[in-house]
Amino acid sequence: MVAHEIGYRARVFFHPNALPGDLQRSKLARLSWPDDPHQVTMAARQDQSRFVSLIGGQSMRGQHMLDSLMMRAGAMFLIVGMVWGIEMGIRQEFSLAPAHAHWNLIGGVLLFVFGLYYRMVPAARESALAKWQASLHFVGAILFPVGVAIVIKKGTGLIVLPIIGSLVVVLAVTLFAVIVFRTSRA
Ligand code: HEM
Repeated sequence: MVAHEIGYRARVFFHPNALPGDLQRSKLARLSWPDDPHQVTMAARQDQSRFVSLIGGQSMRGQHMLDSLMMRAGAMFLIVGMVWGIEMGIRQEFSLAPAHAHWNLIGGVLLFVFGLYYRMVPAARESALAKWQASLHFVGAILFPVGVAIVIKKGTGLIVLPIIGSLVVVLAVTLFAVIVFRTSRA
């Protein structure tokens, strides 16, 4: 209850313009602490649900899903890739170095960079194209380096895996380029 209250007051205080007009008008009244805390908690709940419905029924948290998902996935790719690098060093066996490199760069670095762009430019992450771009890049970031590793270890019998993986990555990065061209001046 108290955390809810503090969160509401912080939002009114720091982001008053993000509130709908009639809520803005009433914000000063809400900044004085009431006699009955329960009253303001209920008012805050009502205002919050109106605010959420006014921005299209989507919570602020939902809007940040794609960018935070990409940054989190990028960070996880990097941890796995670095452990993989340490394992190569310990065994002094470097045949999978190209797979390790592409795992880190396409999975770790690119996913994190895409996530940062989507965080910086909200218009970019709101289109359906951004969801396609993210999904394709996830698939390619796994399929391509894993395919390279399989071909290095087992021969060219499954060469189709890195070929498809590389094409999926190129497609995802092309979609990203389209999104950047559409939104970078916004
Ligand atoms: C704990 C972190 C890491 C360790 C221990 C590690 C280890 C290694 C090792 C042992 C090699 C093979 C070197 C050789 O062939 O002589 C290598 C290659 C490479 N790594 Fe890493 N690495 C790490 C992180 C990264 C990251 C974060 C990236 C990119 C973002 C990266 C990109 C590369 C590249 C481009 C190569 C060269 C691949 C090739 O020659 O085919 N590494 N790494």
